[in-house]
Amino acid sequence: YFSEKIEPILKGKHVVVTAGPTRERIDPVRYITNFSTGKMGYAVAEVAAQLGAKVTLISGPVNLDVPKGVKVVHVESAEDMYNAVLSHYENADAVVKTAAVADYKPAQIHDQKVKKQDGDAVINLVRTKDILAELGKRKAHQILVGFAAETTNVDEYARKKLKSKNADMIVANNVTTKGAGFGSDTNIVTFYKADGTKKEFSILSKQKVAMEILKEVHEMLK
Ligand code: CTP
Ligand code: CA
Repeated sequence: YFSEKIEPILKGKHVVVTAGPTRERIDPVRYITNFSTGKMGYAVAEVAAQLGAKVTLISGPVNLDVPKGVKVVHVESAEDMYNAVLSHYENADAVVKTAAVADYKPAQIHDQKVKKQDGDAVINLVRTKDILAELGKRKAHQILVGFAAETTNVDEYARKKLKSKNADMIVANNVTTKGAGFGSDTNIVTFYKADGTKKEFSILSKQKVAMEILKEVHEMLK
């Protein structure tokens, strides 16, 4: 993906990346999820490995090959992802939270398939834990990068997330723009950093976006 030679700027660093959607079970045959394909997170993991980092990729259910040199931990639900991320947090130098984590899950998982009945039905949902916010609370030496998937008011929401989650950088993208967001091979992102600076990019391959993110991580780790 890159014409220039890659310097191993993340050698000796452990980068934890989360990717893909989560899947919240309703019963043995049904679940709630979102349109995330994992491409952005897998690109971050792949490029981090190329930059010399030790990479742990915590992945929701996706249809992608695991990049070379990357250790993958497969998870299903937001709760699985929470546990996996927290268990790798202490030894991480940076966490890049690309995953599209479900905000709600069914209040109960039925053991047996739910049978249809006459008339409408309701699924009661409860909130999942916010993994990034929890990492922000427990932050010691780690650099935290979050994403913000927005469909409107990107600037306002991204800045809010930066603060409320105590992140070092938020990568915002408007997921309804052509060439950005779910399933696309490209992305159009803006970086919002904790030092108040903002960096806008034109349309780039997800690998190039990953490279820009990881260059920032490298700078923030200095
Ligand atoms: N995130 C997380 N755990 C959750 C929800 C979100 O770690 N339960 C992380 C995502 O991985 C992402 C960032 O928080 O890095 C922002 O996710 P996003 O869905 O854009 O924001 P939310 O805070 O969930 O707010 P909303 O969906 O209402 O915009
Ligand atoms: Ca959300």
